[in-house]
Amino acid sequence: MAKLKIGVFGAHRGMTMIRELLRSPDAEITAICDKYRPILDKAGKTAEDAGLKVSLFESFDDFFSCDMDAVVLANYAHEHAKYAVPLLESGRHVMSEVLTCANLAEAVSLIEAVEKSGLVYQYAENYCFFNTTAEMRRLYQRGDIGELIYAEGEYVHDCAAIWPSITYGERDHWRNRKFSTYYCTHSLGPMLHTTGLRPIKVVGLEGQQADYMKKLGARSGSIAVEMVTLENGAVVKSIHGGLKREPSSVNYQFYGTRGSMETDRWDGQLHVWRETGGNGVGKHEKYAPAFALEGAAGTGHGGSDFFTTYYFIRSILGDEDAKKEAVDVYEAVDMCIPGIIAYRSIVEGGKTLEIPDLRKPEERDRFRGDTFCSFKEAAGDQYVSSVAAQWNATEVGDEVYEEVRRKWLAGEPG
Ligand SMILES: NC(=O)c1ccc[n+]([C@@H]2O[C@H](COP(=O)([O-])OP(=O)(O)OC[C@H]3O[C@@H](n4cnc5c(N)ncnc54)[C@H](O)[C@@H]3O)[C@@H](O)[C@H]2O)c1
Repeated sequence: MAKLKIGVFGAHRGMTMIRELLRSPDAEITAICDKYRPILDKAGKTAEDAGLKVSLFESFDDFFSCDMDAVVLANYAHEHAKYAVPLLESGRHVMSEVLTCANLAEAVSLIEAVEKSGLVYQYAENYCFFNTTAEMRRLYQRGDIGELIYAEGEYVHDCAAIWPSITYGERDHWRNRKFSTYYCTHSLGPMLHTTGLRPIKVVGLEGQQADYMKKLGARSGSIAVEMVTLENGAVVKSIHGGLKREPSSVNYQFYGTRGSMETDRWDGQLHVWRETGGNGVGKHEKYAPAFALEGAAGTGHGGSDFFTTYYFIRSILGDEDAKKEAVDVYEAVDMCIPGIIAYRSIVEGGKTLEIPDLRKPEERDRFRGDTFCSFKEAAGDQYVSSVAAQWNATEVGDEVYEEVRRKWLAGEPG
């Protein structure tokens, strides 16, 4: 059978998918698009060194008209739905990097485009596929800790040192414009995928703008918390942002009716406590779970980067087991919109707000015109500043971005 023809849009993070695709027996990269020529050439050379002839494009429109069965979206985080919809309409399967959409109106359009196309849409929320998080999902689904009562997910990553190399001194780079609760996917996502439960309500909180990030041009609160209620009544805390801690902290804790499980905060192993007797009588176990598939060991983000590309290709080929493991469009939206609604909660002074179930067509109409977000081009007249009014923020001067750009070009840390 001919290999699937895959295009990759965005060659920075996209390089990870390019490397994974080069190892795939079922797919090959046929086109790569990035407007930044040096990174595009580097990606092209990686493919060429592996013996592939790949078409390189700086313009999305030229890339779009190329012959491809599927596209990996690794472009700007707030522009995934914008490109996913026309790609699906043109008959291409889509795998999208995080996040899903810029606002609720886009969430509705994306879901409807996926439904209409009948094609594979997969969300590359790789944090669901660490050895630990994948194991927690297996244990939870098997019933080891009973029904969820409370969980916490944490993604604390101080990006100050790498800020020049990930924002390039661009005032309008999405990382400088995102509101504090936007990037909730890595902390919230694995809790939803593990339990299969839908979020129904959220309250947002954020910490003050950190001076060390403001000096690098970031314009948002430093840390965000979403307190989310799930459909079974469980409460989960999702915390993410740039606090001072090395190495970065990616941790999850689950408490159920018959036990608990949590990642160790420093050694990355998994703790499980199962109540095996009466109340309080049980057994603790600590171990490093094996990966579900051999190919994962040694790949990016603790092996998780292997799974998203693997499941995407297998899902397109009709592998039902892969489809069950992967994150579909409904779950993708559930992993993203609580962050958008949490920011509305912050702006509205800490109100508890409902999270719609966009699986239901009758829920969608209310949100078709809801463009609330801090990305002007997607928000229109519902634009909201990424620095909540409570911080009385002053403008960040152009000299800040000039300095960050200088550091990026000189290869200096932030
Ligand atoms: N899942 C993870 O672990 C993980 C890690 C890093 C980044 N990401 C995600 O990957 C995506 C990309 O992030 P990044 O770190 O590569 O930084 P980035 O967002 O700065 O890079 C995006 C790349 O896409 C290119 N691009 C964007 N719009 C384009 C257009 N219209 N035409 C041509 N090229 C265009 C840019 O030139 C850039 O090289 C983001 O969505 C981010 O959230 C995910």
